[in-house]
Amino acid sequence: MKIASLVTTALVGMLSTFQATAQDITAGEALYKKTCRGCHGPTAKGLASYPGLAGQPPEYLADRLERYRAGEKFGPNTPLMAPNAKKLSDADIANIVNYIVTSFE
Ligand code: HEC
Repeated sequence: MKIASLVTTALVGMLSTFQATAQDITAGEALYKKTCRGCHGPTAKGLASYPGLAGQPPEYLADRLERYRAGEKFGPNTPLMAPNAKKLSDADIANIVNYIVTSFE
């Protein structure tokens, strides 16, 4: 779990006392497969107007998810993305981000 603890270190400060465990990453995987995969793809590479998430730094992914959740607009397709972010808790965001950065390049 070396990678996961590095990621956790990167997220500390944004996500208070969250600590990533293998279970958290498994929870992130389940959420990703249920909620995100349909648009962002099985390996988070994206497709057409759905941006790739693989390879992005964890801070960037978590920041975007928090800001979509808060109602901020980014690209022209924000209305497709925002409703998915609105359902996420802080722990959900941390778990999904840990899953993405530990599973895909
Ligand atoms: C209905 C399709 C759809 C679903 C489902 C979806 N997204 Fe998105 N996502 C998008 C689109 C489209 C954008 C770009 C939106 C824009 O133009 O601002 C985006 C943007 C993002 C970004 C910002 C990427 C960047 O390069 O700035 C992140 C991070 C993200 N999505 C994560 C997720 C996660 C995590 C989930 C599951 C909880 C999810 N998305 C579910 C369509 C979707």
